[in-house]
Amino acid sequence: MSLRILHFSDVHLPVPPGAYRLTEIFHPKRGVALINFALRRAAKYRDAQQKLNGLRDFLTREPVDYLLYTGDTLNFGLEGEFMAGAPRLMETLALARRGALAVPGNHDLYTHGGRALHRKYFAPLLRSDLPEACTPTGFPLVRWLGDDAVAIAFNSARPRLPFWDSSGRVPALELDALEQLLDMPEIAARRHIFLMTHYPFDEAGYFHGLRNSRALLRVLQGRENLVLLHGHNHRPYTHFLPDSATPVYCAGSLSKAGGESFWFFDLFGTTVNARRGHWRNARFVLAE
Ligand SMILES: [Fe+2]
Ligand SMILES: [Fe+2]
Repeated sequence: MSLRILHFSDVHLPVPPGAYRLTEIFHPKRGVALINFALRRAAKYRDAQQKLNGLRDFLTREPVDYLLYTGDTLNFGLEGEFMAGAPRLMETLALARRGALAVPGNHDLYTHGGRALHRKYFAPLLRSDLPEACTPTGFPLVRWLGDDAVAIAFNSARPRLPFWDSSGRVPALELDALEQLLDMPEIAARRHIFLMTHYPFDEAGYFHGLRNSRALLRVLQGRENLVLLHGHNHRPYTHFLPDSATPVYCAGSLSKAGGESFWFFDLFGTTVNARRGHWRNARFVLAE
């Protein structure tokens, strides 16, 4: 039996009118970021809601069994953004026929208050098929994908006070839990193990990459059947981990004007067939 899985990321829904509260704007990180956003980013993601609607339209034409989402729904982690954005994302994830799994991005956990807001507004997404594997951070989360595959989500996003630092880190607790999960016979025996997190699985860029990627890669070393999914970088690409046959897929951004993308996977037995989704003539289509 085949499975269809769609992976998308980095929707960055526009800040809704009235979402700015003075106390939130004068946060030392947000003040500079707001100027940066107004100057550079806002125009590129202005139509993010249209792109999310476009994904919903695509899913009615090409239904999938599972949706996997790797974070950055918001921009500044303002409570008004959570209130408007969380229901829209969750309505989209509910369109998968059998289930969904999601992790936050650094723009969802923008300040220290972001963790509590994320837990409050995205609570339905924090459910695991193996809750006993969760650490006090709330991750890793497990979703069985039929009988032959599984998805495991761990969190690499964290609040950082300096506005120039958007680096990520996998908490040590989650690394240990991930190792134990990958050693479990009922997981190791699966034909496909999708590991998903917001940050790329490498250290590229001290202030933009995953600080403890080497520790993460040590946990993954020598394991077969892995497929690695991430977002954060707003352009889609795929490559193999160095010296391995493990594929890595970056979904890019669903909504970045001119670069809209996602990955669409068909699983047949041991084969994973990956195609890219593009935005063409105001709708999402699959690349030939
Ligand atoms: Fe992003
Ligand atoms: Fe990000």
